Amino acid sequence: MADQYQDDHSLFPVPARLLDPAQCPKPFVSSLDQYKKMYRQSIDNPEEFFGKLANELLTWSKPFHTVRHGGLEHGDVAWFLEGELNACYNCVDRHALTDPNKVAIIYEADEPNQAERITYGELLRKVCQLAGVLRAHGIRKGDTVAIYMPMIPEAVVALLACARVGALHSVIFAGFSAEALRDRVHDASSRLVLTTDQGKRGGKTIETKRIVDEALKTCPKVETVIVCQRTGAEVPMKDGRDYWWGDEVFKHPFYTPAEDINSEDPMFLLYTSGSTGSPKGVMHTTGGYMLGAAATFKYVFDYHPGDIFACMADVGWITGHTYIVYGPLALGATTVLFESLPTYPTPSRYWELIAEHKITQFYTAPTAIRALRRLGDEWLEGHDLSSLRIIGTVGEPINPEAWHWYNEKVGKGRCAVVDTYWQTETGSHIITPLPGAITTKPGSATFPFFGIDIAILDPVTGKELVGNDVTGVLAVKRPWPSMARTIYNNHYRFMETYLKPYAGYYFTGDGATRDKDGYIWVRGRVDDVINVSGHRLSTAEIESALIMHHSVAETAVVGAPDDVTGQSINAFVCLKPGVPVYSMDLTRELISQVRKVIGPFAAPKKVYLVEDLPKTRSGKLMRRILRKIVAGESDSLGDISTLADPSVVEALINKVNPPP
Ligand code: WTA
Repeated sequence: MADQYQDDHSLFPVPARLLDPAQCPKPFVSSLDQYKKMYRQSIDNPEEFFGKLANELLTWSKPFHTVRHGGLEHGDVAWFLEGELNACYNCVDRHALTDPNKVAIIYEADEPNQAERITYGELLRKVCQLAGVLRAHGIRKGDTVAIYMPMIPEAVVALLACARVGALHSVIFAGFSAEALRDRVHDASSRLVLTTDQGKRGGKTIETKRIVDEALKTCPKVETVIVCQRTGAEVPMKDGRDYWWGDEVFKHPFYTPAEDINSEDPMFLLYTSGSTGSPKGVMHTTGGYMLGAAATFKYVFDYHPGDIFACMADVGWITGHTYIVYGPLALGATTVLFESLPTYPTPSRYWELIAEHKITQFYTAPTAIRALRRLGDEWLEGHDLSSLRIIGTVGEPINPEAWHWYNEKVGKGRCAVVDTYWQTETGSHIITPLPGAITTKPGSATFPFFGIDIAILDPVTGKELVGNDVTGVLAVKRPWPSMARTIYNNHYRFMETYLKPYAGYYFTGDGATRDKDGYIWVRGRVDDVINVSGHRLSTAEIESALIMHHSVAETAVVGAPDDVTGQSINAFVCLKPGVPVYSMDLTRELISQVRKVIGPFAAPKKVYLVEDLPKTRSGKLMRRILRKIVAGESDSLGDISTLADPSVVEALINKVNPPP
């Protein structure tokens, strides 16, 4: 079965340099045997394994006695139950107290050569002042705060200040539209929003404040907006609601204590797309999430003091939460915050960044690698990348061509490549190579992280497919510390989405193969989620954006394979009677409709105006057929006899691939 995929089974052992103490710090896990032994311990005795790790990596203001409680069957997972710890204290105070001059954040601004460094001492002062602002505006433990900010240090300060006072942050990626922002602010009942006047990205201006104003027109619960100045542009300020960040923080002292937080107190919400309905506010709690972030940061990125770590994600996504902010700062690392784009002002930007800051671990998405590879190797020339030790990818399956290019051109064959598989819901990496221990295969995320008990299930029967050389849906058999605990205000939906589809298992929504050597290959989503440049989008959400347009009668959205973005959004649209089908303007309008309702990154690449959609006699849409057509696999559509009108298919094929 696995043979239907053309996997690259070439083996890449750990580069010798990583195991040579004269050249690199000794990896924490430096052999396959050591990995296996530790993995066994984590599965056989999770209480001991994670209890020890939690005390080693985190500082608890009150110790825990119970390591683990509950399970996947009842959806009542809890870790380190009696323990108390503050995430902000763990990320800032404890390092500021011992080494205040250590650089916590290197902020690489949109324009090159304007980097700023923020030490742990400064970070603590900034975070305490903003925590004071939050408290002064009535924010207390358990409240939710919306953050709609570009990639500036204050965004990190914002997350940490929320954690300090025990408020749940709900970061909304600054590429979301006003409507999408409104829905998320509303769903989380946020009373306070943190934003900026504008943002800067790739030389372009993002109108963050204007978008917030638009969103808040219909969010009566929001009482306060704190506006940080990024560009200094003049923006409208609403009396009694809007306050300048700069003015507010000056009112508050440089130190204010961190709130005592129980391990299972909620820490943040992050909205993500599922296969149905509205986006869900995935909720993480404090102790388990922090342990997952810290442990994977230590072992997967093999973090050693002195390393300079750079994750290219946006703080608006889980990757930014865990690997720009919480993982690195928990261990007192120096983390790079990159405001720009890999191609701005030229496609050398990443390589300049690595050379200038002597980055040791670099983490990006396959889509960026593919895009840069296409632009040509000359952009890499003349940049000293010798500081790199570990290079990572995340967000989507990486194709072997991109993997090889990354390994050879960026890693120069002397770095470990870690293809890390995880999700918003998993909180931290769950399947990934450990750089000093695992022989990799290009395109495989290899083996589970500690404590992750993987299962591959038959999608129909739900039976576990044991042994090697099996393909099915990817699930996890037992709880791990950083798994999401619920969906905000909707535990029922949490159960239905993740724990009920296969009773007793956490269902990832991805398909996967365990190959003949036991390596895991993640194949992509098996539900109606599309992954465009590592952005997770639900077909249902895009469809409901389209259907709001007055000309649209019906629509179906599917993902098509795309060389650069992984998948692209293809929309089939049936118009209402009387609306002329051949109109470029209408196509443009529909695309801008999606930009408006969700955000520019969700805009369909192709819109097909069609007469009919393929449906069964009972009226069920057969997306499978649309997926095949856009993938150029019209010759293998399978059984179409159940369609109400099989002739629809012919018309669709001609639409997508017009005959010459
Ligand atoms: C996909 C991002 C293959 C997968 C951290 C998952 C991957 C979804 C990989 C989660 C990988 C992420 N190999 N697929 N290394 N990493 N994915 O929640 O489909 O934005 O379910 O979290 O991205 O996306 P999310």
